[in-house]
Amino acid sequence: MKTVITYGTFDLFHIGHLNLLKRAKEMGDYLIVAVSSDDFNAIKGKKCQIPDTERMAIVEAIRYVDKVIPETCWEQKALDVEKYGVDVFVIGDDWKGKFDFLKEQCEVVYLSRTQGISTTEIKKQLASKDK
Ligand code: CTP
Repeated sequence: MKTVITYGTFDLFHIGHLNLLKRAKEMGDYLIVAVSSDDFNAIKGKKCQIPDTERMAIVEAIRYVDKVIPETCWEQKALDVEKYGVDVFVIGDDWKGKFDFLKEQCEVVYLSRTQGISTTEIKKQLASKDK
């Protein structure tokens, strides 16, 4: 069995997220998704619209996803790869090169992002409509 893992915040779940998860699942048999906790986002200076418990519930309901875990710190990735016997680490290419250190443990793949959509963009559009 080939195990794939990916990480993300998945706030205001959108088609770019869905495409990423579909393509991640196609790379193996079992997909684990680590969803950034609200506390971890606070450390990163990121504020989510949707609480972590709800973001995790939404991701868990996606048919491509087999397991959801919280992501709580930067050091977690290498530990998860070991713990879950991960074969492939996948993430969008906005992170290209950032996780190459995991190549010592597993395959590392940066997938091209879906063009024209992001949570940041949705938030901006909603904010400008309020004015
Ligand atoms: N992603 C993607 N295509 C998009 C948006 C996101 O493939 N258009 C991928 C990211 O590269 C990442 C995963 O989806 O692997 C989760 O991304 P996340 O940061 O939660 O979503 P964004 O929409 O990029 O959010 P933000 O604008 O806050 O960075």
